[in-house]
Amino acid sequence: MNAPTRQPPQSGEIIVRAIPFAFAENIDPAWHPDRREWSHMANGASLTMPYLEPFLIKTVREALKKASNPQLKQDVHGFIAQEGNHFQNHRRYNEILKRNYPELADVESEMAADYKRFQTKSLRWRLAYTAGFETMTMGITEWLIGDRRNLFNDADPSVSSLILWHMVEETEHKNVAYDLYQHLYGQYWPRAWGLVYASWHVARSSRKGYRRMLKRDRLWNRPASRLRLWAMVIRFLMKASPAMLRSLVPGYHPGKVTDPEWVARWTSAYAGLPEDAIPLLDTSDPEIPAQFA
Ligand SMILES: [Fe+2]
Ligand SMILES: [Fe+2]
Repeated sequence: MNAPTRQPPQSGEIIVRAIPFAFAENIDPAWHPDRREWSHMANGASLTMPYLEPFLIKTVREALKKASNPQLKQDVHGFIAQEGNHFQNHRRYNEILKRNYPELADVESEMAADYKRFQTKSLRWRLAYTAGFETMTMGITEWLIGDRRNLFNDADPSVSSLILWHMVEETEHKNVAYDLYQHLYGQYWPRAWGLVYASWHVARSSRKGYRRMLKRDRLWNRPASRLRLWAMVIRFLMKASPAMLRSLVPGYHPGKVTDPEWVARWTSAYAGLPEDAIPLLDTSDPEIPAQFA
């Protein structure tokens, strides 16, 4: 007998999906065979998640105690559950990465120290960091989904599906940290600083990781590799910067930003899957359609 399927998603709903992504023990950390630099950029970002996302969760959980809006409180619970699922999946993948690159443990220690230090900052500062990171993520989502043909075609399906699932859920909860910050504080300049600082901090932490991986791969000092890396960094900046700048325009709300159409297709396709299924994308199809193998 087939496992039951889910209800179709409601618009604006934050759906909690405890997906047990599985990664082969012998997976190539260059999970996109033609794009080693991009693979390691994404690996560097993955490495930050089990440090960054628990910090975001802790911050909104503390802020939740001060919130009075029932719908917002419900959405914060959805945010917490989604972020929890994200970092647990990334951590399983990161464990394999670390067996290939043991030096990544140093990067993890530095991140652990950073987030411990941030606990001494005010809740307003931490919530501005949270809202700021979530804003940058919207730009990254637009980039990864819009450019998915380049970034994921013929790449490992497990890592590609993990990343794109993460982006779908970031879209679903894109309003939450912003709304919570506005609800409790609302001041413009601390939010603007949170955006700049969080984006810089997470990008820097990711760079520490990919730098070590590219060094071990003996690519870091190769000019051709460095040019490929810079090309990807420029693409990242070109996509993330407009999303960050528009968030500073008066009257901005993340809810006014149109979501990539692919997100709705992914959520509908997932709703049709059996309860225990892993939503693996077909990366051999250049379109990377929002359907599962
Ligand atoms: Fe996340
Ligand atoms: Fe998020």
